[in-house]
Order: sequence, then C-alpha cells, then structure tokens
Amino acid sequence: DKRISLIAANWKMHKTIGETVSFIETLQKEVGPCTDREVMIAPPYTALDAARKAMTMEGYKLAAQNFHWEEKGAYTGEISGPMLKDLGCDCVILGHSERRHLFGETDEMIQKKLAAAFKFGLLPILCVGEVLEEREAGRTLEVIGTQLERAVQGLSREESGKIVIAYEPVWAIGTGKTATPGQAQEVHLAIRQHIAALFDKEVANRLRILYGGSVKPDNVDALMAQPDIDGLLVGGASLEVSSFKRIVQYQ
Ligand code: G3H
Repeated sequence: DKRISLIAANWKMHKTIGETVSFIETLQKEVGPCTDREVMIAPPYTALDAARKAMTMEGYKLAAQNFHWEEKGAYTGEISGPMLKDLGCDCVILGHSERRHLFGETDEMIQKKLAAAFKFGLLPILCVGEVLEEREAGRTLEVIGTQLERAVQGLSREESGKIVIAYEPVWAIGTGKTATPGQAQEVHLAIRQHIAALFDKEVANRLRILYGGSVKPDNVDALMAQPDIDGLLVGGASLEVSSFKRIVQYQ
C-alpha cells in the first residue's frame, strides 16, 4: 500500500481564534479538498474549537500540540485526551523537542502519552531528533533509536503501524538550517529499519515518517522526493497561508 503523505502545520504558541479561522478558510479556498495527501493543522488549544468548525473540506485534520495521559484529575493546567476528542481533534503531537527541552518531558512521559493517545482514539505524531552535539559525535541513530524504543514500549503491533513519526533534528528547528534531503532520508530509512527490527517489516512499511526542521517552500520538493519522507511537520513556514500553501502543494 502506498503511504498517503501528511503535511502538518505546528503553529506552536501562535495565532488567535480570529487568525486561525481566517487562515483555515483561506487555505481551504485556495487549495481545495485534498484526496491524494492529508493536511493537518495544530493550532494552540484555545483555537481548536474554532479550527474544527472552520475545517469543512475533505483531507484536513486537526491536531493538538500536546496533552496529558490521564483521563482527568487534579492536574492544574493540563488537558486530557477525552477533552481533545470532545473538541473534535483527530491527532496529537507528542514529544516535540520544545516539550522535551523547554518543559522537561522525558521518554517515560512520552511513552505514557503515546499509550494514552491510542486509549482515547487520537492519532499520535511522535517527534524524535538529535541535538547538534549528538550529531557531531556520530550518535544520531543511537539517540533516535533509544527515543523510539522507549516511546513505543507496550504498544501492540497494530498500534505501532498507525503511529506517525516526525524526525526533527533539533539543530534544524527554527534555525533556517535544514537537514539536506540526503541527511533526512538516511535517518528516515534508519527509523524504518529500527521499527522493522522492533516489530516487523510490514508495520515499518506502513508507518509514515515526517521530516521537520526549517521546511520552506524552496526545499519542500527535494525533501518530498526522498523515498522514506512521507510528509512534513512545518513550524515557521506554516504561519503564512502563502508559504504553507506552497508546501502543501509540493510536487
Ligand atoms: O514542529 C515543527 C518544527 O519544530 C519545525 O519548526 O519549521 O520553524 O523549523 P520550523
């Protein structure tokens, strides 16, 4: 089966309700319904409801940027999976490098979130990636292998085939330094092989692996031409309709 590509916008801490609605309406008007690719938008929590209502076309999915693994309880400031489902979310981003590095998320927390995403019916987008120091020390594949192994612990074979993995080299996020298509492909292939070793080849061939880190209109086509790059997780360039539209319309 061919893997359907996924172009995802991670807005991080950007956009009000009004800005969200106007972005989604304009994007849909200019791009139209999508059948050969999926478009995902991850606005901040405060705009999820408005985003859901504005998304009216086929092929558009809604994601949250994070959540807590418990269903409910005394966790001030947290949002649960059932709450996201209630808002009509399809997906949730987990283990983004900003969550790991700025907010102290550990592999153990990410593992709990991944299991909870399946429990509550949200498609998880699991982010992995090395920092510059690790890449320079030749430890990229080892670091990513460990992040993957710890995150998927306890998942069934069937669940594993449904995960979306996002490879985001930390040194490429928001820096304007993209991994070359070759560098990204090398890691994507290694991720697929690692999943094949942990589960099996069929699962590995089914799962989608996105690239993230300074994706821009001028590098999108070369990245998407790589055989193991199944989509993109876009930060900065997803904030303007004009650049995100060009990325969605990669050739
Ligand atoms: O989730 C998105 C990534 O962190 C990439 O961000 O495109 O601004 O480099 P960026």
